[in-house]
Amino acid sequence: MGVTVQGPRGLPISGNLLAFRKDPLQFLRNAVAEYGDVVHFRFGPKRHVYLLTNPDQIKEVLVTKQDHFKKGKGLQVARAVVGDGILTSEGQKHMRQRRLMQPAFHRERIASYGQVMVRQAVELMEEWKAGEVRDIHDDMMRVTLAIITETMFGKSIKEGADKIGHAIDVGLKYVANKASSFIDIPLSVPTKSNRQFVESNETLDKTIFSLIEERRNSQDGRQDDLLGMLLAARDEDDGQGMTDEQVRDEVMTIFVAGHETTANTMSWIFYLLATHPQVEAKLHEELATVLAGRLPTVEDLPKLPYTNLIISETLRLYPAAWTINREVVKEVTIGEYTYQPGDTLMMSQFVMHRLERYYEQPDEFVPERFAGDLLKRIPTYAYFPFGGGPRICIGNNFALMEAALLLATIAQRYRLRLAQPGQVVEPEPLVTLRPKNGLPMRLEKRE
Ligand code: HEM
Repeated sequence: MGVTVQGPRGLPISGNLLAFRKDPLQFLRNAVAEYGDVVHFRFGPKRHVYLLTNPDQIKEVLVTKQDHFKKGKGLQVARAVVGDGILTSEGQKHMRQRRLMQPAFHRERIASYGQVMVRQAVELMEEWKAGEVRDIHDDMMRVTLAIITETMFGKSIKEGADKIGHAIDVGLKYVANKASSFIDIPLSVPTKSNRQFVESNETLDKTIFSLIEERRNSQDGRQDDLLGMLLAARDEDDGQGMTDEQVRDEVMTIFVAGHETTANTMSWIFYLLATHPQVEAKLHEELATVLAGRLPTVEDLPKLPYTNLIISETLRLYPAAWTINREVVKEVTIGEYTYQPGDTLMMSQFVMHRLERYYEQPDEFVPERFAGDLLKRIPTYAYFPFGGGPRICIGNNFALMEAALLLATIAQRYRLRLAQPGQVVEPEPLVTLRPKNGLPMRLEKRE
C-alpha cells in the first residue's frame, strides 16, 4: 500500500481485537472521530481491517467495484449455519439463485402476504394479558418466524417454533463468536459450544428436510411460494433440479435472514416508543384517523406516513444489520488507498447513521427528520439499512411492510412500557443488532 492508513495502536498479538470485542459500536465511533474517513485495525496477528466512512467509497465497494470483493469473514463463517445459499454464495451461483428467488419478493407478490402478517400479530396478542410483563423481543422473534414460515414455505410451524427459534439462536451466537475470534477450534473438538452447535444444526436440518419431503410428496404441486419455486426450478443448461441440500441451504438462509432482523427492528421500535411518548401519541392519532380501530391492510400503508417515518428512523438509530463487511479478492484502489487480497473492508450502518455531518442531533429519535427531503440531501450511502448494489437485501420491501403492519396492528390495542421505568436497553452487536438481555415490557391495554 502506497499511503499508510492510520488507526489506533493495538496489542502485540491480538492487535485491536480485544478493544473491539469489548464494545464494538463505541470502539468504531471513537476510531472515526479520531482518524476520519478510513481507519486501520489489526484483528489478530494477520488480519487487516479497514473501516470506511466516506459514502462515495462505500458505493465503490458495494456497487461499482463489487467484483473485487467477496462477503466478509462473518458471512463466510455463517455458512456453518446457512450453507451455500443466496446470502453466502458468490459469483455465478449467487446470481442464478437471486434470479430464481426474486419473484417471491416482487411487490405484488409480497402484498399477498399482508393478511398473514396481520393475522399472526392478532394471534400473538391473543396470548397477551393486560398488565403482565413479557419479553417483547422473544415475542417479536416468534411472530416474525411464524410469518416467514407461513409466507415462504406455506406452513405454520407454531408447535416447533420455540425449538427452531432456539436452534437458530445457538447457531448465530456460535457464528458471531467464531467470526470475531482468531483462534479456530474445529467443530470435531467436543467443546460445549461445538456440541450445542452441532445439536442445533441437527434440529434445523430435521425440520427443514421434513418441510421439503412433505412438499415433494404432496399432490398440490404448489409453486406460488418460495419453497414451491425452489423445488420447481430447473437449471437452464442441464435441466436438473436443485438437490435437497441446495433447497435446504436456501430455506435455512431465509429462516435466518428473514426473521431476526425484522424482530430486532420491532423491538427497537417498541423501546423507542416507550421512551418517547410524544412520538407514540402522534402514532396513535394517525392510526385512529386512518384505521378507526379496524385491522390494517396493505392498501392502508401509503396512508400511514408517520408509521413509516418511525420505521425509517428506527432503522437509522438501530440498524438490524449494523455492519456490512467485504473481503478483497483482487487488488483494488478505493479513494487514495490500494487494498490487497485478504484485507477486510468494513462499512457500518450503525456508524454512518449517527454521523453528525449528515444528521442533526444524531443520537436523538426524531422520526420527523425523514419527512422532508433528507434522503435527497445526503449521499445514498449515508443511510443504507438494507445495503446496496447487487447484494442489496432481497427482503427489504417485505420487511418494511411487515414492520408497518405489525406496528399498526399491535399499537392500536396495546401500549408497551418498560418493565423497569428508566431502564436503558443497550444494543448488542452480534450478527445482528439486538437488545442486550431481551426487552421486558409491561402490556397496557388501550381502551
Ligand atoms: C429490517 C429487516 C432487515 C434488514 C435491516 C435487512 C438487512 C439486510 C442487509 C444489510 C443485507 C445485505 C448484506 C450484505 O450485503 O452483506 C441483507 C441481505 C439479505 N436479506 Fe435482508 N434485511 C432485513 C429483512 C429481510 C427479510 C424479511 C428477508 C427475507 C424475507 C431478508 C433476506 C435477505 C437475503 C436473502 C439477503 C441476501 C441477499 C443477497 O446476497 O443477494 N432480509 N439484508
